[in-house]
Amino acid sequence: MMFDEALRALGSLRERTDFVPEIAIVLGSGLGGAVALDETVCTIGYGELGLPSATVHGHRGAMSFGRMCGKDVVVLQGRIHCYEGHPSSEAVLPVRVAALSGAKTFVLTNAAGGIAESLDCGDIMAITDHICLAPNPLIGPNDDKFGPRFPDMTEPYDPSLIDKAFASAKRCGIELKKGVYIQFTGPSFETAAEVRMARVMGADAVGMSTAIETIALRHIGAKVLGLSFISNKACGLAGKPLSHEDVNRESERVVGKMSALLRAVVGDM
Ligand code: HPA
Repeated sequence: MMFDEALRALGSLRERTDFVPEIAIVLGSGLGGAVALDETVCTIGYGELGLPSATVHGHRGAMSFGRMCGKDVVVLQGRIHCYEGHPSSEAVLPVRVAALSGAKTFVLTNAAGGIAESLDCGDIMAITDHICLAPNPLIGPNDDKFGPRFPDMTEPYDPSLIDKAFASAKRCGIELKKGVYIQFTGPSFETAAEVRMARVMGADAVGMSTAIETIALRHIGAKVLGLSFISNKACGLAGKPLSHEDVNRESERVVGKMSALLRAVVGDM
């Protein structure tokens, strides 16, 4: 059962470090370089914790514990995705382990396709809510030690963290937008018709990762701030085909902006 796997991974982690982070930061596609810790205490590969290794280019698959802007943090470089063949419950293991190690607040970043006309390439969007079209990560037996069978999802993205993120962004002169994130499983990008459907449903940006992590984290009682970096216009809106390389290239091009925002947000927490 996935809860046992998370506890086993925590056990392996505790053999390496007794560091207790307050904040966890998850770095999405092409955003691996968005955080440089001021002081690194310990870096551990997912494989060393018995977690599936990340296989996607742009995702390293390691947790780094250390200090950043005066806070004790863990940075998760890389994700495990459903489209790599893992059930959602397994894809959320890294964030569950980070939560079990002590992190109470999570900053989840991702690269996403912009659906709303107001979102341009290079924009950062604070996620206000999500639509999850990927399988729910809580499917399967529930362990009440982690959270309730039917967790509430009224405000999955913490409104006070969103307000704080806007204040931090303003302080460092970064424009922050807001909107609803929709998760498809991938790995094929959406069709133009699916993007039109997503828009009608109320989605502003589309990706393949973050909603399932937020569900698992709300289940366990952690607070979530979601930041989508708009790496491309969603399929059918740009007039040209999409590629993962384009996503990574655009993410890497403006990684400095996400980096500045993350430092400001974490420092102000
Ligand atoms: N669709 C899905 N996931 C993505 C996209 C997209 O357009 N861009 C970056 N991740």
